[in-house]
Amino acid sequence: MSQSLPSSLHVEPRPHGFGAQVTGLDLSRPMSPELREAVLAAWAKHGVLSFPDQPLSLNALEAFTLQIGAFGDDPYIEPMPGHPNVLELRREADEKATNFGAGWHSDWSFMVRPPAATILRSEVIPPVGGDTLFADATRAYDDLSEAMKAMIAPLRALHSASRSYGTEGVFARDTEARTMKIKVSEEANKIWTHPLVRTHPVTGRKALFINPVYTVGIEGFSDDESKAILGHLFAEMLKEKYIYRHTWSVGTLLMWDNRCTMHFAQGGYDGHLRLMHRTTVAGEVPA
Ligand code: SIN
Repeated sequence: MSQSLPSSLHVEPRPHGFGAQVTGLDLSRPMSPELREAVLAAWAKHGVLSFPDQPLSLNALEAFTLQIGAFGDDPYIEPMPGHPNVLELRREADEKATNFGAGWHSDWSFMVRPPAATILRSEVIPPVGGDTLFADATRAYDDLSEAMKAMIAPLRALHSASRSYGTEGVFARDTEARTMKIKVSEEANKIWTHPLVRTHPVTGRKALFINPVYTVGIEGFSDDESKAILGHLFAEMLKEKYIYRHTWSVGTLLMWDNRCTMHFAQGGYDGHLRLMHRTTVAGEVPA
């Protein structure tokens, strides 16, 4: 039976309303339409939702994801056996390779339709490090000068997976063994363009849709010009006042909106296992 809107449902926003913790519901049970609406509304408002104490099997994680939307495609990483839409983000205690996600990015922004949501649930967390940081690309946009907003309004940014998954990318140059099975490919060297400023399809708010890992330039601008403009915008987005640092507990499920945030997996837990399960929800063509 589906879970109706529980009276215990509580949404606790973080400062500035960027990120919120949601308690008083059980994500292993199907959500009623009212509860789903309440979760989606909180997600639209806060961009990143954390749901502590959610002991979910992989099947339950998949079922929850499908209540948010259809699965997204996850290129370049081998999924879990028997679970083609679940990635295991696993780094062993003795692993020396850089941790996955160790650069500011918005998931798969190089795709024609980048995922709207990423859902990440913690199975094993290290006693030190391993935080995930989020940057609020909506407020960073809002606070730009009107002159800067007018200048960037018509621009299209170039996105590519090349620096990570391309034949000359970070993973192709790995010298240390890695548990996660990464697929380096020629395909990753392709470039796709998206509006540099994106309008959120639900809230109608504008956000900077760029990130240091996958945004490789701006259409029509030279490399130096692109670097100067993007460098300035990244510095704005990464100001402390736009950052939410998530420190994990075991069994927390985090759901973030790739259309208006970027994130960074901090690392700093050498000598300890970290194990997470991740799904994505399909998104739309950015506009
Ligand atoms: C990611 O970029 O999806 C990984 C985030 C994390 O492991 O904290």
